Amino acid sequence: MDVNGTVAVISGGASGLGEATVRRLLDGGARGIAVLDLNATRGQALAAEAPDRILFCPADVSDEAAVDAAVAAALARFGSLQLAIHAAAIGGAAKLVSSKGPLPMALFDRVLKINLYGALHMMRAAVIAMQRNVPNADGERGVLINVSSGAAFEGQVGQVAYSASKAALVGMTLPLCRELAPFGIRVVTIAPGAFDTPIYDGAPPALKDSIVREALFPKRMGKPDEFAMLAEEIVRNPMHNGRTYRLDAGMILRPSG
Ligand SMILES: NC(=O)c1ccc[n+]([C@@H]2O[C@H](COP(=O)([O-])OP(=O)(O)OC[C@H]3O[C@@H](n4cnc5c(N)ncnc54)[C@H](O)[C@@H]3O)[C@@H](O)[C@H]2O)c1
Repeated sequence: MDVNGTVAVISGGASGLGEATVRRLLDGGARGIAVLDLNATRGQALAAEAPDRILFCPADVSDEAAVDAAVAAALARFGSLQLAIHAAAIGGAAKLVSSKGPLPMALFDRVLKINLYGALHMMRAAVIAMQRNVPNADGERGVLINVSSGAAFEGQVGQVAYSASKAALVGMTLPLCRELAPFGIRVVTIAPGAFDTPIYDGAPPALKDSIVREALFPKRMGKPDEFAMLAEEIVRNPMHNGRTYRLDAGMILRPSG
């Protein structure tokens, strides 16, 4: 699908990997991008950079009605929707049983609501809009990209909620690809390794150092635009469908904690 002229909705688009993807799609000629994010400061600042093409929609992806409203706002502003990317997520570190007691189920619910239900909220609203699109010459009407994580495959101690949510995104990819193929809507998941984004802002600097020590080559964290390059490739190349791509420079973290 041509990026030029495309309209996208991107959750978590105000920061990190989502923000880099917003910028790359804009450079590629995207007609409009709805940035769906909780962070109003960053979202408004990003929208101010290209007010004619970026619509900031302050919304919590765990809130089904808020996502429906954001997608409706994007449609009202830009007229159609071809691409939906779910990049919003939280970590929610907690063990099954720790010195503080058993896993707080409210925390588990919150992680699943944002990371997994958020993806479903995004996709169900987006697909209804995409089904109305006039297909391009290849029969394509839309593309859905979910952002999983290497933790879907090699989660660390304390990532029980995060890994469960990210593995669920991997599990949904093929059944959704099969369901949506008759409409010309593709579904692809990206599972990044370690990328240098504000997600690490609250973490001790030693965490990033320990990740870089494990890196093979390049011996550094990924740059957000290196993620955005893959997202753009997935949009452009219609042969990407039904798969989860790991983007991690071959790094497999050893168990910790
Ligand atoms: N950075 C990495 O190393 C890495 C590795 C693996 C997977 N990921 C995944 O990549 C995605 C993007 O992460 P990032 O590193 O860019 O993080 P980030 O913190 O820079 O960006 C995440 C964005 O999501 C938003 N967000 C969080 N909860 C939300 C909610 N309930 N509703 C709406 N917006 C919400 C935040 O405000 C933020 O702008 C996430 O899904 C993350 O799990 C990141």
